[in-house]
Amino acid sequence: MKTPLTEIRNICCIGAGYVGGPTMAVIADRCPKIQVNVVDLNESRIAAWNDSDLSNLPIYEPGLDKIVQRARGRNLYFSTEVEPSIANADMVFISVNTPTKTRGLGSGQASDLRWVEACARQVAKCAQGHTIVVEKSTLPVRTAETIQAILQASQGPQSNGEPRSFVVLSNPEFLAEGTAIKDLETPDRVLIGGEDSHAIESLASIYNKWVPSEKILRTNLWSSELSKLTANAFLAQRISSINSVAALCELTGADVKEVAKAIGSDTRIGSKFLNSGPGFGGSCFQKDILNLVYLSRYFGLPEVADYWQNVVTLNTWQQDRIARLVVKNLFGTVTGKRLALFGFAFKANTNDTREAPAIRIAKDLLDEGAQLAIYDPKVESLQIASDLKLPQITPPSLKAGPSKAELSGEGTWWPCSKVEEAVSGADAVLILTEWSQFRGLNWDELAQLMRKPAWVFDTRGIVNKEEVTSAGLKIWRVGDGAT
Ligand code: UDX
Ligand code: ADP
Repeated sequence: MKTPLTEIRNICCIGAGYVGGPTMAVIADRCPKIQVNVVDLNESRIAAWNDSDLSNLPIYEPGLDKIVQRARGRNLYFSTEVEPSIANADMVFISVNTPTKTRGLGSGQASDLRWVEACARQVAKCAQGHTIVVEKSTLPVRTAETIQAILQASQGPQSNGEPRSFVVLSNPEFLAEGTAIKDLETPDRVLIGGEDSHAIESLASIYNKWVPSEKILRTNLWSSELSKLTANAFLAQRISSINSVAALCELTGADVKEVAKAIGSDTRIGSKFLNSGPGFGGSCFQKDILNLVYLSRYFGLPEVADYWQNVVTLNTWQQDRIARLVVKNLFGTVTGKRLALFGFAFKANTNDTREAPAIRIAKDLLDEGAQLAIYDPKVESLQIASDLKLPQITPPSLKAGPSKAELSGEGTWWPCSKVEEAVSGADAVLILTEWSQFRGLNWDELAQLMRKPAWVFDTRGIVNKEEVTSAGLKIWRVGDGAT
């Protein structure tokens, strides 16, 4: 069935998270004639989006505050009014969370689609007239089928006799956190999957306000859904590949940075995404690969499933390996020792800690009885406590002698507001996030505050090795066989 070419005047986005918030802010900014309502059940998140102090926005993204300032109250609105916003919308974006299932069928691999399903039911209940429903969240292949089935069951006349109809499109988001605004404003491509050409063109015309036509790709629904999973799987695979090579470099005297440069100069390989580190984090990579694994097993392709599973296995191994080598270098024990963790976010320029490598590394060290002094410029201490499933303690005073926890050998942690505070009395610094401020640290000054012999474990390969060693500190740098 061909639906009428709809000029979109009113958009509703369900989910004001890392994807929905910035994406809708950019659409509203670039399309002042379209009213964009971003709705969420989470009242405090919506209050933060509406906060007059833009530094309180719930998501930290460079450039986002300026866009929100321009568009909010003009044609961009944040509210908890889910049902009326759906009713008024020509187009509804579903941008809710889809974490990996933690129980039941497909537990640990398949995505938990209960929030997506709830949204589809809400749209089915409240939508009026013709509504284009756009999947924005990353979803397992063939989710559109589920959404379509729910919507179709409620298709038909409204209470006032007016006809109701739905079309489902897939429009995966490829933005990366920390560069979300740049990625949205100048995307490599916009992907729209669907079967209804009028609906596809309605959505394409929105993006076309600022994205060149040749960058707007049109595919069928299933190719679009699968492309998103595959793009993330390929990117993650590069990181596991370079991390596997880093371990080899450390043993053979090679330097992973030099290897990455040499292989990245081959235009067929390319230079991006070849930074060795503590493993990938973020809400997408692991979840999407596990989805591919689940899908492959479901369709009877165990070898394909195992292939992708190994990308995740290597990632976890890299994190455990780093924790183990810290312990080994600190004379085989970190019990009661103070370690400074620099960075907790899964990468720089975000306050997001979902699947952050810092979590597993910190937990491994806590299990060994370490005392962790954690500094991150953007992550809140409540978030760290929730990730570590351990409340913070009051920072123990160095003058007061060994604390109760130190004596009992229990792992503990506390947040620090600056690096100097974190390194005081520490036996080691672990650099876990590549925040730019960690590149230019004054190691001579920091070394004075540490207990000797003291170490720097640079899991991101960002510090100046000579400056660290000349400050009298020992250094381990990921993938650097010469240290
Ligand atoms: C990713 C995809 O890039 C994006 O297209 C998709 O929409 C969502 O998932 P994001 O998770 O925000 O984005 O961050 P990304 O920059 O891709 O980094 C993911 C992880 O890989 C981070 O933990 C990062 O530190 C790590 N990484 C990245 C490396 O270890 N080395 C690299 O060379 C690049
Ligand atoms: P993402 O990174 O995919 O944007 P987030 O977890 O940051 O994921 O955001 C998803 C948002 O969706 C959350 O703020 C959550 O409260 C919201 N949400 C989930 N289900 C619904 C629903 N049925 N109606 C409205 N909002 C929802």
